[in-house]
Amino acid sequence: MRVQIWMLLATQWLTPADANRKIDRKKVVSNFNPQRHESSNSTPVQVGNGNFAFGVDVTGLQTFQPFAIQSSWGWHNFSLPTTPGQTQLTDFTGLDWWTHGRLVKYSQPNSAEPEISNWLIQNPQRINLGRIGFWFGSDHVDITESDLSEKLQTLDLYSGIISSQFTVLGSKVTIKTSADPDSDTVAIQIQSDLIKKGQLGVFFDYPYPDRNKFDAPFVGVWNASSLHTTSLQQSRSQAQISHDIDATTYYTNIYWDGEGCISDASKGTHRYVLQANPSHDSTLELTVNYSPKRGQRFEDDAGSVVRSSAKWWREYWEDGAFIDLTGTKDTKATELQRRIILSQYLLAVNEAGRDPPQESGLVNNGWYGKFHMEMVLWHLLQWARWGKWSLLDRSIPHVYDRFLPTSIERARDMGYKGARWGKMSDPTGRSAPGEINSLLIWQQPHPFYFAEVEYRAFPSPETLKKWDKVLTESAEYMVSFAWWNSSTNVFDLGAPMYPVSENTNPNATINPTFELAYWRFGLKIAEKWKVRQKLEAPPSWLNVSKSLAPLPIINSTYPIYEGIPDMWIDPVTYTDHPAMTGIYGLLPPTSDVNLTVVANTANKIASVWDFANLFGWDFPMLAMNAARLGRSDTAIEYLLDPNFAFDDVGMPIGGPRVPTPYFPGSGGLLLAVAMMAGGWDGNEGPKFPKGWDVRAEGFLPAL
Ligand SMILES: *[C@@H]1O[C@H](CO)[C@@H](O)[C@H](O)[C@H]1NC(C)=O
Ligand SMILES: *[C@@H]1O[C@H](CO)[C@@H](O)[C@H](O)[C@H]1NC(C)=O
Ligand SMILES: *[C@@H]1O[C@H](CO)[C@@H](O)[C@H](O)[C@H]1NC(C)=O
Ligand SMILES: *[C@@H]1O[C@H](CO)[C@@H](O)[C@H](O)[C@H]1NC(C)=O
Ligand SMILES: *[C@@H]1O[C@H](CO)[C@@H](O)[C@H](O)[C@H]1NC(C)=O
Ligand SMILES: *[C@@H]1O[C@H](CO)[C@@H](O)[C@H](O)[C@H]1NC(C)=O
Ligand SMILES: *[C@@H]1O[C@H](CO)[C@@H](O)[C@H](O)[C@H]1NC(C)=O
Repeated sequence: MRVQIWMLLATQWLTPADANRKIDRKKVVSNFNPQRHESSNSTPVQVGNGNFAFGVDVTGLQTFQPFAIQSSWGWHNFSLPTTPGQTQLTDFTGLDWWTHGRLVKYSQPNSAEPEISNWLIQNPQRINLGRIGFWFGSDHVDITESDLSEKLQTLDLYSGIISSQFTVLGSKVTIKTSADPDSDTVAIQIQSDLIKKGQLGVFFDYPYPDRNKFDAPFVGVWNASSLHTTSLQQSRSQAQISHDIDATTYYTNIYWDGEGCISDASKGTHRYVLQANPSHDSTLELTVNYSPKRGQRFEDDAGSVVRSSAKWWREYWEDGAFIDLTGTKDTKATELQRRIILSQYLLAVNEAGRDPPQESGLVNNGWYGKFHMEMVLWHLLQWARWGKWSLLDRSIPHVYDRFLPTSIERARDMGYKGARWGKMSDPTGRSAPGEINSLLIWQQPHPFYFAEVEYRAFPSPETLKKWDKVLTESAEYMVSFAWWNSSTNVFDLGAPMYPVSENTNPNATINPTFELAYWRFGLKIAEKWKVRQKLEAPPSWLNVSKSLAPLPIINSTYPIYEGIPDMWIDPVTYTDHPAMTGIYGLLPPTSDVNLTVVANTANKIASVWDFANLFGWDFPMLAMNAARLGRSDTAIEYLLDPNFAFDDVGMPIGGPRVPTPYFPGSGGLLLAVAMMAGGWDGNEGPKFPKGWDVRAEGFLPAL
């Protein structure tokens, strides 16, 4: 029923000609199947399902490059510090900062309690579940990738299957790798004469977790064997390996066809090898399932996983919105289409889980594998804008419901009403200590954006009810955070606070442009939400939304915040996120936005900003601003900027400040493309450069 309402709404934006001429989606998608002839040093080719991903090198496994196997559930804690007075979570006290004349406790590392502060930042960390690779016989343990010839690997995007082949020891090896859409399982189908010769098997290996903030391109430590344990149990054609890392235990369930057995290949170093018996034919098929629960059975064979994968991916590509730029004879359109298709694939593999994704998805670890509540919009709003509601629904709004009690507690402990959403989070909802983490506020209005976009697609009492509590508590916090300045008679945001650009003095940061606009946007929706339910919004909400400080203006441009010294003069003011462009691109303009000032600001940014130092999603933000200003050529330039790069398999390059991949860039790209494909309220329809042949299906206008 839900799907049908959506399709009904979606199709009304198609012109009759488009509606008749349905896009051949399979053809467009398949044009961009990635191909490799050697392993990359930085990025894997992946299969996965949003909660589980398996990254491979050119052999279709992790033979030479230990790319990660990651999941939503695989996390680990190092043991708590033993320093007296810092041995438990409650020993962490944070720091008091003056905030409008009172001392407020912020969750920041305290130099008097460094060990527990650090522990809370580094724990839990997301683990790499293991490594699976080819074993070439005990006489050939030193084979390297350069001993392989005729290497060819293709990822079929339309079915989610990687086909790899190579020649080694005089024989050809072919392998298909796929992931089950519904469980943490990889299916492996190998064909080679080497199997019955006993010269080809499959190894399983296990790392110990690392304490690195960024663990990339590989995750975990492979030589700390004595710090963790593994044990093997097997019966005919199946085995279970349990892996104990301190308090974390999980299981690898391996099923294979025909005769064979697993042996502990290197006593104590956690490497196991599956070898077929000599009677085996030249194929070896196995499924490998990872699970936090003992005794979990995975019933399907590799062939059924392949079929489930093909079915899931076909539906993924055929459902929801789609854009076809392949009729445009311009290399820019081709590259943009490549980025779009590969981003769609990678976001379904890495960013459709139970929890919001970390910046690097399930590829490797950034920020210990944790996710950032201010980044959820860049990762996840694209699902809504592309009509992939069932994928969005896995995490949003549930994560807000789950984190509501601790977020209410966080607000209360700081002397505010409502719920203050955390920042750098793990699945329990604990927000890691940090000066920036505790002073950032732009995560706060995100629920309003998600809710409003959902309501436009599904305008029902159920949608209103589903979001009401989260929106109410979010608004209560926003209202109580805004501070009545009796000398100016407006409500101020900050100080102290950090704006989107995290490089200002928090004690001097007051009334940042983007946050003011976002507060106003959120509170307007908060009021509308109550009106739609025939309820009255509390007068305090109306007061704050009406009397928030005006957007600051310096020399007819929007600065980062009110009164920032030397805006556009001191380079530090134009190096980080140019978030002031978000007020007319990411956000629909509120009534007080001055379009002359918006245009001046966009021009100024284009001429001075330090683009080499930006983060991926800044470019889609700039592109959306340009699009709304009617500059679609500029928007395309931003989406293809040399500093906003995607590698051969579509992984968004991190750039100078973060490792690769940095998926907010991919999510942002799809958000910007959705806006350019569907237009926005009051100006619907495609917004691409003149002369482009664009066919779009199923996009609703942006807010
Ligand atoms: C890590 O420790 C925290 C605090 O005790 C706990 O809430 C969390 O569940 C633990 N996570 C894991 C994976 O053990
Ligand atoms: C901000 O002010 C607090 C006192 O309220 C002080 O402890 C802190 O060091 C200041 N931070 C910066 C970055 O100046
Ligand atoms: C493990 O390898 C790393 C990096 O090669 C090295 O620095 C470390 O000392 C090794 N640790 C052990 C226990 O061998
Ligand atoms: C009131 O607003 C003015 C102008 O924004 C600002 O300079 C002043 O610091 C604010 N007052 C307080 C007490 O924060
Ligand atoms: C808005 O709130 C401020 C601060 O509480 C108060 O002084 C002012 O009278 C209120 N304005 C209205 C219109 O209620
Ligand atoms: C505003 O513009 C004037 C004239 O160009 C310039 O002298 C001044 O430095 C500018 N002020 C700021 C804060 O950019
Ligand atoms: C918008 O800003 C421009 C440039 O600063 C100014 O001239 C104009 O009066 C402003 N418009 C309004 C409606 O405030």
